[in-house]
Amino acid sequence: MRYKIIGAIFICIIAIQFVPYGRGHVNPPVIAEPQWDSTKTRELFFRSCGDCHSNETTWPGYSNIAPISWLVQYDVNQGRKEFNVSMWGVQRENEGDESIETIEKGEMPPWFYIISHPEARLSEDDKKVFIKGLLATFGKGDEDDEHEDDSD
Ligand code: HEC
Repeated sequence: MRYKIIGAIFICIIAIQFVPYGRGHVNPPVIAEPQWDSTKTRELFFRSCGDCHSNETTWPGYSNIAPISWLVQYDVNQGRKEFNVSMWGVQRENEGDESIETIEKGEMPPWFYIISHPEARLSEDDKKVFIKGLLATFGKGDEDDEHEDDSD
């Protein structure tokens, strides 16, 4: 009985590898990047955010194995959809100006990403430099302003 269950689980794991979603990750081309205020800001961005908010995602080996591949694909799709530095001025929704808020609230980079990418963690000093650079590059979103800001 036990071996049957183990066998069934094994077959399932193999079978889900054939689901097309999240297989053979491809990076779309880079169309246009924002005007970074400095190379340091860009560097910090690609260290901590670029995998999900650009078209230059580095896909680790395990990101090809279902069901991890599905989660990773979903995150990258959602991340790019809201904010993609490789589609600057091209993609309608591009919320760079909310970056500072997401960092201050500790929402970005997501905690589960930091576990597998410890280099993405921002020290307090990194954060200071990064936030300054993000402000100079994207400005700061003001949610509580009555949508009068149509600058982008
Ligand atoms: C593991 C992938 C991943 C990484 C790394 C990541 N993000 Fe995100 N980000 C997402 C996803 C998914 C969303 C959309 C859903 C959500 O809001 O959680 C998002 C949404 C956003 C948004 C849109 C506003 C919002 O609150 O939804 C901003 C701005 C943002 N991220 C900034 C950043 C910044 C800045 C970094 C680096 C410090 C970063 N992200 C790192 C996945 C990621």
